[in-house]
Amino acid sequence: MTRFDPAGPLRGLLHPPADKSISHRAALIAAMGTGETTVEGYLDAADTLSTLKAVEELGAEVDRSPISRVNVGGSPRFPGRMPAGTPDPVFRIRGAGLRGPRPAEIDVGNAGTLLRLLPGWLAGQDGGEWTLDGDDSIRRRPVDRIAAPLREMGADLSARDNRLPPLRVRGAPLHGVTYEMPIASAQVKSCLLFAGLLAEGETRVVEPLPSRDHTERMLAAAGARIERSTDATGRSVVTIHPAERLEPGAIVVPADISSAAFFVVAGLLAPGSEVELLGVGVNPTRTGILTILERMGAAIEIEPRGEEGGEPIADLLVRSVPLRATEVGGAEVPLAIDELPLVALAACFADGTTTIRDAAELRRKESDRVETVSAALNALGGEVEPTADGMVVTGTGGLRGGTIDSHGDHRIAMLGAVAGLASRDGVEVVGMDAAAVSYPGFEADLGSLLGN
Ligand code: S3P
Repeated sequence: MTRFDPAGPLRGLLHPPADKSISHRAALIAAMGTGETTVEGYLDAADTLSTLKAVEELGAEVDRSPISRVNVGGSPRFPGRMPAGTPDPVFRIRGAGLRGPRPAEIDVGNAGTLLRLLPGWLAGQDGGEWTLDGDDSIRRRPVDRIAAPLREMGADLSARDNRLPPLRVRGAPLHGVTYEMPIASAQVKSCLLFAGLLAEGETRVVEPLPSRDHTERMLAAAGARIERSTDATGRSVVTIHPAERLEPGAIVVPADISSAAFFVVAGLLAPGSEVELLGVGVNPTRTGILTILERMGAAIEIEPRGEEGGEPIADLLVRSVPLRATEVGGAEVPLAIDELPLVALAACFADGTTTIRDAAELRRKESDRVETVSAALNALGGEVEPTADGMVVTGTGGLRGGTIDSHGDHRIAMLGAVAGLASRDGVEVVGMDAAAVSYPGFEADLGSLLGN
């Protein structure tokens, strides 16, 4: 059990850890590539280490040690701003090649993104055979969402009860299709784009609502022919053509807005806070949390800092302010899906009733986040009503405190920590170690902003 006492204000600068979504894609696309790819700033956390291990099993060579530069005199990414000696890791990955993965049994650990993306690459490898499995949480994550469209392309897959891991993939010749996704999911879209690289003819993925587009950006940068358009009803369409090879060359990973978001909300809730988050990825398909919090009254200064690895980055300056309730739903949901637990937390402190709807996907994350978030916040004195597709949160101006269980979900563990420092009596988090899935240094970074 880890205790987080009421504390504040938060003050100082932080460069949050590398983006998890982009890191997974960097390792996979580098492994699919021809020759060597350098990846600067790969996320050093349990989920993305599962992906590195997976690509090694598939035949890619990962060199983790070599050009790990130590930036004496301050990070070159933030001249004169970050403390000296900040390590800036650079990995080198020699690809197995687009048609070169060798048969393997892959342990995806807790990584849903690895579970859903990797089969897209493997499904088109005629003659190969792979199994993907993972921890207890992974065994509850549906894979029929990728199996169904991959089968339409000619793939041969089988899953437990036809929808859960372990997932077995037998490589087969694929052909392009037009697939209208029933849900907005960047994981499904990315999986099909990978499969499309190996299929005959073009593959078109139609999204009900736009979702994160890191795969599209990275595949284009690696030389794939990929086009984006809008159909007659306004839905976005991604078209990918088969490829002979990918050459990613160099990939730079920005800081993860989903990790930064914990400090954004902590900074808003702890009176007197002033926190600056440096080099954060602000791809518009990821910034829903900033729009939602601004609507709730937050004044977040966003200072653009150009691009890193084809992704826009910015420094974010956050100061504490009183918040008001809002309504979240529709197109905003995929743009803030992983941050909706934080919206619910902020809503407990806001004036009025906040409604989150159209977010049934929350029930299919590392835990059923409609239930785990509602249970956690109610255990701390909040007034949260779970609904089929979201939550209704009655703001009471604060939280009393108490004990919550992370249920092995990294984002619930970190939510508990932020709730604790903004609460009246403090919060005990059972299972804080889950944070290591995306953010092993979370407690240390939080402590540094509290002057510890
Ligand atoms: C992710 C997409 C989202 C998100 C997950 C990471 C990705 O899932 O919740 O944490 O990297 O593509 P869905 O695409 O299933 O919504």
